Parts: sequence; structure tokens; C-alpha cells
Amino acid sequence: MKELKILGVIIFFTLVTYWGVEPLAHSIFHPHVEPADFEFSDLPPVQGKGEVATGKELVVANCTGCHSIKSQGYPAPLDNASANASYGVVPPDLSTAGKIYNENFLANFIKNPAHATKTEHKFVGGKVHPMPSFNWMSDNDIASIIAYLKFIAPKEMTNREVFVDACGRCHNMKYAKIKATSDVSNYMGSTPPDLSMMIRSRGEHYLTTFINDPQKHLHGTAMPRVGLTQEAEEQVIAFLEEIGDSKKEEREALAPYVLGFLVFMAIISLLWKKEVWSEVE
Ligand code: HEC
Ligand code: HEC
Repeated sequence: MKELKILGVIIFFTLVTYWGVEPLAHSIFHPHVEPADFEFSDLPPVQGKGEVATGKELVVANCTGCHSIKSQGYPAPLDNASANASYGVVPPDLSTAGKIYNENFLANFIKNPAHATKTEHKFVGGKVHPMPSFNWMSDNDIASIIAYLKFIAPKEMTNREVFVDACGRCHNMKYAKIKATSDVSNYMGSTPPDLSMMIRSRGEHYLTTFINDPQKHLHGTAMPRVGLTQEAEEQVIAFLEEIGDSKKEEREALAPYVLGFLVFMAIISLLWKKEVWSEVE
């Protein structure tokens, strides 16, 4: 009987810790933030009628002077070192932009990059975002650019490809042998951390909201809002997991066996104790 009482007390305090104390501590260490908003509903919708052919003309006239679109045969106008020197960052290749970025984000980004990425606080005192605002374009023109970018975008991408296109111009990922194309320390005033182990230090939950809107967690951070679709963001996180925590599934699959073993040992020790004490009594 005594054993059962002790067990009861242990279970009681375990549950109090699990459902009472842990969530409280969690909410203090990780203050609640709004869930990720993959509609980017703080940005006004850009409603225009887009045409792929017009979009192509506009992109060739306005974008390929800085951006490569390798899948369409437009090479980078500058090598990485010169692009770094001119813009502080290498403009990303646009072959996959229509796939990885949310449409509404993309439209607002073209109109005003600093606003869409929530980095206006970084561009004060005469500093301007290295990509000009195309706010003189009509909504139809912007819709056409997006129609074209979507038209040329691949249907499928690997997790690694999404990561390289979305994060690879700024972040190293040593364990995946990915080296950032740019040194953005001057441009952004801070050096982006290597992301190899980020999934372990920050966890999936934090990253889901952080990538979607860095300002929610780190107010005033230099990291821009990247504007990924939900699908693309999930691929980025899956890639961070593949590289930083490749043993996760194995580890989780092991848990039932470990628990089973503990239960088994508990029964054995109980029986053993009974055996020993029966001799004493
Ligand atoms: C003067 C050079 C320049 C021109 C012209 C330019 N861009 Fe950019 N663009 C950049 C730079 C630099 C960046 C990277 C900014 C950063 O990483 O902070 C960028 C980033 C981007 C991104 C990535 C957005 C994200 O969330 O990471 C997209 C998409 C893009 N540009 C599209 C376009 C389109 C479409 C056009 C033409 C309408 C265009 N750009 C014209 C320099 C330019
Ligand atoms: C234009 C450059 C740029 C791009 C693109 C970019 N980042 Fe960052 N990122 C930064 C900078 C700069 C910092 C450091 C911010 C600071 O010190 O405030 C940062 C910080 C981070 C951090 C650390 C946050 C923390 O809690 O300390 C994570 C995680 C991160 N980025 C993930 C990503 C992911 C994932 C992507 C791609 C979807 C990405 N970043 C794209 C510039 C960038």
C-alpha cells in the first residue's frame, strides 16, 4: 500500500509540473506572439490584371540590370564581389521568386522593399534600401511582373534549393556546405548567424513565427521579413532540421522503447523488493 501512495504522490507532482509549472515558465521565457501570417495581411492588396508577356518586358527593362534569371538565360550583370561592393548584398536570382514568395508580399516588395520587409528603421539618415521602390508602376504592371515570375517558376523545388534562394545570400550553413554569397555586415549593421544548428537552439515553433516576421520576436532586428509562402517556409524549416537535427526521427522512434524499459525495470524492482522484505518479515 505504501508503494502505491508514494507512486500517487510522485504522479501528482509530475502532473503539476507538467501542466502547471512548465507552461508558466514557458510563457515567461517565450512570450506569446501572434501566429505566422502567411497572407501578409498588414500589406494592402495590389489588385491589377497581369499579363505574362507584358511582365516579361517589364522585368527585362527594370530588373535584369541587377538580378540574374538564370533559368531564362539572363546572367548576373555583376560578379558577386562587385555586386557586394555596389549594393552591400548580392541581388538574388529571380528564377524561383514566383514560387517561393507570397504574391501579395512580392507585389508590395516591388513597390517598396523596405516597407514590405519591415526594415524601414534601418534606412534612415539618407540610407536607402539597395533595391529601388517601383512605386511609380501601375498595379497592372506589378501584377504583370508577378504573372511572369510565376510563369517561369519551377513547379517543384527541393528543400535545399528553397533555402539557398531564400536565405543563402545572407546566411552561411557550414554543415550543409552553403556559403553566403554576400557579406551583409556593412549593409545591415550586423552579421547573420550560421544556421546549421539554429533548429536546436531556437526550435521549430520559434522559427515558424520568426522567419514569417522577425520583428515579432526581435523588435528592431536587421533581419528582413523574407515573405515566404507557407509551403516554402515549411521547406526551409525541414531543411534546417535535416542538417541540424538529422537524428530527430530516430530519437523519437526510440522513446517508446525507453519508456517500456523503465516500466519493465520498475516492475522488476518492485517484485525484488517484495521478495527481499518477505524474508525480513
Ligand atoms: C538597383 C538594383 C536592383 C533592381 C533594379 C531591382 N532589384 Fe530586386 N533586389 C536588389 C537587391 C540588392 C536585393 C536584395 C535586398 C536584400 O537582401 O536586402 C533585391 C531583392 C529582391 C527580391 C527578394 C525579396 C525577398 O523577400 O528576399 C526580389 C523578389 C526582387 N528583388 C525582385 C525584383 C524585381 C521584380 C525587380 C524589377 C521590377 C527588381 N528586383 C529590381 C536590387 C535590385
Ligand atoms: C538580407 C539578408 C538576410 C536574409 C535574406 C535572411 N536573413 Fe536571417 N538574419 C539576417 C541578419 C542581419 C540577422 C541578424 C539579426 C540581428 O542581429 O538583429 C539574421 C538573423 C537570423 C536568425 C537569428 C534569430 C535569433 O533569434 O537570433 C535566424 C534564425 C535567421 N536569421 C533565419 C533566416 C532564414 C531561415 C532565412 C531564409 C528564409 C533568412 N534568415 C534570411 C539577415 C538575413
